[in-house]
Amino acid sequence: MLDVLARSPRPHNQPIPFVHTHMPRPTHQFPAAPHAGPIDLHSHLLPGIDDGCEHFEQTLETITKLQRAGFVGSVCTSHVFPEVYPVNTPLFLQEQTAELQRQLQKYNVNYAVWPGGELRLFDGVIAYLKEHGVPTLGESNCVLTEFWPDEDPDEWPEWIDDTFQWLILNNYQPILAHPERITNSEELPHRLQRLRHRGVWLQGNARCMTGEDGYHADMWVRRFLQDDIYDIIALDTHNPDTLESRLDGLVMIAHEFSVDTLHRLTIDAPRRALANRSQPHTASNDITRAG
Ligand SMILES: [Fe+2]
Repeated sequence: MLDVLARSPRPHNQPIPFVHTHMPRPTHQFPAAPHAGPIDLHSHLLPGIDDGCEHFEQTLETITKLQRAGFVGSVCTSHVFPEVYPVNTPLFLQEQTAELQRQLQKYNVNYAVWPGGELRLFDGVIAYLKEHGVPTLGESNCVLTEFWPDEDPDEWPEWIDDTFQWLILNNYQPILAHPERITNSEELPHRLQRLRHRGVWLQGNARCMTGEDGYHADMWVRRFLQDDIYDIIALDTHNPDTLESRLDGLVMIAHEFSVDTLHRLTIDAPRRALANRSQPHTASNDITRAG
């Protein structure tokens, strides 16, 4: 019945019916956010389950480097994309994060980890969430999402807006990861402003500051920082070899913008996200299309 509601054609500007969904039952106790220090809200630390760290030794080396840079914790946002990583359900990622926490305790590593996921948006993702639950970040209602156009840089399918709308109506707080990397379309700023108006948060990747993610990401990340549309900056940590350039991006943000900006987006903002458990007040319930 609920799948039918989600998939039925409906006229534009009609709200999606409110549907209660479920979160995976917590299997483990995860820590509260430490009082100080940056937190990486977007990371691929869990060993051997996506394109991030390949084994525990790499995870340990990455965390050691993060600690040296001042980080006190990471949300483990492995890819949730059933076409490529069918095993990575929200519940499986919770269990894997609990196992990583046990291993860190065994090696006396004082570093907080929380479960999560980086949810790929695709046509049919709402049905997937109804079946498997929503990969929220820690105990918050935040959901980290990503989207990539297939070929056309102007592509912006309506199921993107439908998915965000469905999440918001079900009391989740959607976050769109690295919007500066999505496309070089000139429509991008307009579309992001529309998403923000509806209540979607934006998470920028620090490394885009270095130019290593291409010219357009380099240009967009500076423009979006200047326009102050990011809610969070994260590292999108993958492994120890690529961590340095991601950390360089943080230094560049501090130099080109301000230390206050950096602290607000990497220290305050992740705590705000992890503590967020209520319906966003800025969300508009209409479904007027972006772009
Ligand atoms: Fe990622």
